[in-house]
Amino acid sequence: MLTDKTILLIIGGGIAAFRSLELMRRLRERGARVTPVLTPAAEQFVTPLSVSALAASKVYRDLFDLTDEAEMGHIELSRASDLVLVCPATANLMARMAQGQADDLATTLLLATDTPVMIVPAMNVRMWEHPATQRNLATLRGDGIKVVGPVDGAMACGEFGPGRLSEVPDILAAVEAHFADGPLKGRHILVTSGPTHEPIDPVRYIANRSSGAQGTAVAAALRDLGARVTFVTGPAEVPPPEGVEVVAVETAGQMRDAVEAALPADAAVMAAAVADWRVANASGSKMKKDGSGNAPALEFAENPDILAMVSQGDRRPHLVVGFAAETDDVTAHATAKRARKGCDWIVANDVSPDTGIMGGQENAVTLITAEGAEDWPRLSKAETARRLAERIAEALA
Ligand code: CTP
Repeated sequence: MLTDKTILLIIGGGIAAFRSLELMRRLRERGARVTPVLTPAAEQFVTPLSVSALAASKVYRDLFDLTDEAEMGHIELSRASDLVLVCPATANLMARMAQGQADDLATTLLLATDTPVMIVPAMNVRMWEHPATQRNLATLRGDGIKVVGPVDGAMACGEFGPGRLSEVPDILAAVEAHFADGPLKGRHILVTSGPTHEPIDPVRYIANRSSGAQGTAVAAALRDLGARVTFVTGPAEVPPPEGVEVVAVETAGQMRDAVEAALPADAAVMAAAVADWRVANASGSKMKKDGSGNAPALEFAENPDILAMVSQGDRRPHLVVGFAAETDDVTAHATAKRARKGCDWIVANDVSPDTGIMGGQENAVTLITAEGAEDWPRLSKAETARRLAERIAEALA
């Protein structure tokens, strides 16, 4: 719930601006007060009257409105909130924020504020993927600004890809996570998730069947308990949770680099299905049949063991949790793995095909700790994640 929270909502000028109307309603249903600010471009998409009606508040539009300066100056307006939420954040608004410009009311407030800022980008795919926007995004992240989305999908301009505004419930989840006052508040937890892709050549790769569902659920559960989560994910089937810092990687080597960059952390949960081997003789250009009928010989090299590296490294988190996918003698194999890797806990699951666990909605895990093995009942992956997050909170308390 967002009772008594004041949210300064800056509405940028994009086609997604109309969704901010629904967002305001939902924020108010949860008890938040919404103070809306419209950029001049936003007024082309939503009217001040509808924004004012749904926010149940005066709409702020003009930097040079002297009545407002007498009532509440822009400095005060920028600070009289618990969160500044920019939705939608257009490419233009992101660029001006990254530059520190103050050429209208919205950017002036963003520069003057001392409260946390969260942006929800929405724009055309090419604009999102443009190196200039990605540079601005990195700058804004470096400035401590939280970023929600964008997500993949069909866009108003007819193109498909990343750039769509996150769904309103996901934006709300990120806002609520920001205010969550759970037992993990102030803790930084690193989560790896999903498969890795190891290239054979520019068009082919070796992968595995991990969907990323369990790792994603763990990250969401830790977030719900108030943790700041860095989520390092391979190319997973399920989208990453909102309200966490997402670092997307493809190969085990990239995952290792991303994990190293994310440390230090209070805890690490390594749920990724990292490929044990990469192709040592991967080709820089597409491999062709040579007409001889002979198949190419792939050579393999062992990938870095990220869990062992984190467990045995000099920046070891207080608690390191690994996963083990086993098909037989689950407890014995997982207990040996815990010792070999040097982690504190292993979450072991039986991934025999008849269990339906890999790629399914449910999981039945055995938690291996220094005290021994605990069999958990068959639960949804979300419930398994909630229990694990609670155990982690107890261990860090
Ligand atoms: N892991 C890792 N880096 C690797 C390989 C695995 O971080 N290069 C992590 C996984 O994220 C997981 C655990 O180690 O937490 C799994 O260990 P692994 O040795 O790969 O075991 P399994 O895949 O279960 O299988 P096996 O015992 O057959 O190797």
